[in-house]
Amino acid sequence: MTVRVGLIGLGTVGAEAARTLAAHAEMITARAGAPVVVTEVSARSRSKDRGIDISGMTWRDDPSQLAVSDNVDIVVELVGGEDGPALAAVEAALAAGKHVVTANKAMIARHGARLAALAEANGAQLAFEAAVAGGIPILKALKEGLAGNDVERVHGILNGTCNFILTEMLSTGRAFDDVLKEAQDLGYAEADPGFDIDGVDAAQKLAILSGIAFGAAPDIDAVEASGIRDVSALDIMFAKELGYRIRLLGVAAKSPTGVEQRVSACLVPETADLARIDGVTNAVMVDAEPVGQALLVGPGAGGGATASSVLADIIDIAAGRRAYAFGQEAASLGALTATPIADRAGAYYIRLNVIDQPGVIADVAGVLGQHGVSIKSVLQHGRDPNEAVPVVMTTHETTEAVIRDVANALSALEAAVEPPILMKIESF
Ligand code: HSE
Repeated sequence: MTVRVGLIGLGTVGAEAARTLAAHAEMITARAGAPVVVTEVSARSRSKDRGIDISGMTWRDDPSQLAVSDNVDIVVELVGGEDGPALAAVEAALAAGKHVVTANKAMIARHGARLAALAEANGAQLAFEAAVAGGIPILKALKEGLAGNDVERVHGILNGTCNFILTEMLSTGRAFDDVLKEAQDLGYAEADPGFDIDGVDAAQKLAILSGIAFGAAPDIDAVEASGIRDVSALDIMFAKELGYRIRLLGVAAKSPTGVEQRVSACLVPETADLARIDGVTNAVMVDAEPVGQALLVGPGAGGGATASSVLADIIDIAAGRRAYAFGQEAASLGALTATPIADRAGAYYIRLNVIDQPGVIADVAGVLGQHGVSIKSVLQHGRDPNEAVPVVMTTHETTEAVIRDVANALSALEAAVEPPILMKIESF
């Protein structure tokens, strides 16, 4: 019996998914055990040329009508957005017992546990492999391949746009805005690129990863997120001089006092695996017992990568494979307690712009010494006396609570021109 797909959203990903379903029909039929055919579509513009033939598909102006259509078995939601039409359509589909495949990380990070419960109550499947790390099958890996493991930490590069920007800025010296524009043209960036460069997109992905890794309802509000707006070309160059690369990392780590969930620009040693992940590529590292450390790498954004994950979910459902959305029954998902900042250990990179005058380095070093923070290295390339000059330090291990106090004390120094830039040094 044919499995009928209703496609909501015909952007880069939707068009690519439709094209691949048609182009690889024979292979997909063999793997799904039945032909998989797009029967209905809903998008903003009916007439736009997307390079696919939609003439045989029923057009729906209202996605919520497609969601409950008798001619659809699997609703594929590729509109995006935490609430609004996407959520309305997904809720309607699940309530009607239709399976849902979505790439919508904002919606899953916010409403995932509730939607999973709704799916279970109605005998439907909810799958969102495409929501996290594009073409890397990391959710499947956690839920299935690593199902027997106790996960201690999941971390990695979760935003292709930021990684693309950081690597291009380092290798070509191009300006931030110029590289961001290219990422948008290539279809990597979110509709609002602020979601990429402010860490929101990575935070949503991390919340979903944490949920599956630690058996908890995803909680986007528990993820502390910052992006790469404050990372300057200067930081990229200083980091290089010190033997590091800057990467926007998502980290979800279990400790005796809770789980830390954060997205932030970090320094990683240039010899580390994550330092070698360039461009739009994503990488997710899982530390778990008994497997040890597993690293998954692949394209994190773009039509083909994301469509690949959408197709995998469609084929799973069409083939009759059943799985809990978060790897376990929705009712059994717990809540995560945040690790207090006093228990979050780490070494830091600090860049402070100070007026170049006698005694300033001594004052800066004094602040760190008073807080019990040990300095590992100091860099200052002199400019003209009495002008602002960057002083860069790396520290030995301290805690986040202490480094926040240090930042406040440094900001208060008379010679400080602006608050310091702080980045954690991650050497996992
Ligand atoms: N905008 C995202 C990124 C892709 O750059 O990684 C979709 O999640």
